[in-house]
Order: sequence, then C-alpha cells, then structure tokens
Amino acid sequence: MQVILAPMEGVVDHLMRDMLSKVGGFDLCVTEFVRVVNSLLPKKVFHRICPELHNDGYTPNGTPVRVQLLGQNPQPLAENAVRAVELGSHGVDLNFGCPAKTVNKSKGGAVLLREPQTLYDIVSAVRQAVPSEHKVTAKMRLGFDDKSLAFENAAAIEAAGADLLVIHARTKMEGYKPPAYWSWIADIKQKVNIPIIANGEIWSYEDAINCQAQSNCQDIMLGRGILAMPNLARVVRGQQEVMNWSQVNQLLIDYSGYELFGDKGKYFPNRLKQWLGYLSRQYPQAEDLFMQVRRLRDSNEIVQVLQQQR
Ligand SMILES: Cc1cc2nc3c(=O)[nH]c(=O)nc-3n(C[C@H](O)[C@H](O)[C@H](O)COP(=O)(O)O)c2cc1C
Repeated sequence: MQVILAPMEGVVDHLMRDMLSKVGGFDLCVTEFVRVVNSLLPKKVFHRICPELHNDGYTPNGTPVRVQLLGQNPQPLAENAVRAVELGSHGVDLNFGCPAKTVNKSKGGAVLLREPQTLYDIVSAVRQAVPSEHKVTAKMRLGFDDKSLAFENAAAIEAAGADLLVIHARTKMEGYKPPAYWSWIADIKQKVNIPIIANGEIWSYEDAINCQAQSNCQDIMLGRGILAMPNLARVVRGQQEVMNWSQVNQLLIDYSGYELFGDKGKYFPNRLKQWLGYLSRQYPQAEDLFMQVRRLRDSNEIVQVLQQQR
C-alpha cells in the first residue's frame, strides 16, 4: 500500500512536510504547485517551493518529494518539468484539479478538465521532454461542472503517457464538500491501465478501508485528514493508534520552532490557527487552544500558550 502526502497550497510547505514525514508513514510528498505561464522559471523558484531539492529531493528523514506544476501551455510546462527533475525532484506532477478562481480564469487547474485534448497535449509534451527514468504523474478531479468527461480525461492522461494518476473523487463544483465519490475511481480504474491513487475525504482508519473497498485502489493520498490527525498515515497502515493530545501539543511546539526559525516566521500565527481548525475535528482540546490564541498576533505569545499546555 502506497500512502502519499497531498499537495496543499499555503498549508503543506517544506516545514510541514519535514514534520509530517517524521511522524511517518508516507512514501512520497507532493509540493505546493509551481505556477508556469510562458517561460522557463529561474531555479530559485523551484528551490523556494521545494527546498528539499538541496537535499537530492528528500525530506530530512528521507521521504522523496515530487514537484507539482500548474499551467495550461504544454511547451513551457515541459521545459519547467525538465528543470524540476534536473534539480532533483522525484518525478513531476501536473495539477488538473485546482479550483481557485484566479487559477481557472487563466486556464490552469480544474478548468482544463473541460478539455481532454488539452490534458493530452500537456501530458504528452511533458512526458516526451522528461527523461523516461523520471515519473510524470497527474492529479485530477472527476470533472469541472459535472462528471461527464471523467473517463475521457483519465483516458487522455493515460494515452499521453502519464505513469500514474491521482483522482480526487469530486468535481470542481463539488469543492471540498463530503462525500467523495470513491466508486467513480473504481469505474475509471476499469478503463485505464496506469496505477491510480485514490484521494478525498479520508479522515480515519475506517475511511481508508471504505475508500480502498469502494475505489478498488490500494494506494491512497491523504490531504486534510493528516492535518486533523497528524499520524493518520501510520494509523491507516495499522501501525499506530491515533496520537494523543499531548503528542499533538508537542508537535505544535515543534512546529513553532520550525516556523519561527525558518523563513516563514511571519505566517506562523495564521498557519497555527488554521491548523488548529483542522485539529479540532479530531481533538476537542484544539478548540480550547484556538480560543486562547485567537486574538494573539505575536508568535512568541502564542508559543508561551503552547508551552503552558504541557
Ligand atoms: C488548503 C488546500 C490546498 C490545496 N492545494 C493543492 C495544490 O496545490 N495542488 C493540488 O493538486 N491539490 C491541492 N489541494 C487538494 C488536495 O491535494 C486534495 O486533493 C483535497 O484536499 C482532497 O483530499 P482530502 O479530502 O484528503 O483533503 C489543496 C487542498 C486544500 C484543502
């Protein structure tokens, strides 16, 4: 069973990848997307989004990291994909699922699911450009407005030579609202032959089992669930019980250390509050903690509150 950490823009940066991969259970992490318009981006852009490239594309604990690209123009995507793997990315992933209005307006992300031919052109250009020892993978939703093109899109991605396809089992219009339509993945899987990874709405061991059964996929990608339960990857593998609150609190303290001494210190208060929002789904204590830090803007004051929880 493969378990992959989902890309989550503005949430799962390299610090989070470092911390979550240490908690363990992941075979691969995918980065936040690199936005490609018309040009070959400078190396520093790749290093900013994926500092692990300085470490041969591995997190400090040795989990491989794959750079994700988002864009609509095949040639620039292909050039940037080559750059990503030359810099040390473990393959390259293409984003066909982002629902953001600004991204979709410029024809990137989920809006491409209206155009199977464009998906084909992109994947095919990237596959032809990237040396064959590096994987070219794609991540799609079931559609944009509806699911009518789900099979055609998956087939286009396969025919263009992708090595693997992650399916987030909802359309763009369905956003992040439960349920995720896992059985659609099983239907798609009957029609395409590349490996498929199931994604969407896995928050617990039981969800993972149900998702595997309904999607007919062993391999899964975990997104928001890992934020709500930081050892979910180990839990779904049957290796650990759900982490207790005092272990989570220690992670929050570790996180503050990372964020404050890392390059993103200014984001720490907001990111911590956002994370507490996800944690409160699993841990009632997270909500109490949120109430205590809600009005605090100063990182050091927040850290003091975290230390007092010990
Ligand atoms: C805050 C946030 C940011 C995301 N950013 C990305 C992204 O950059 N690239 C991508 O392919 N998917 C992105 N996604 C989608 C997730 O990777 C995943 O497909 C989705 O959350 C469904 O999985 P889940 O129900 O386990 O969270 C994002 C999701 C969230 C909630």
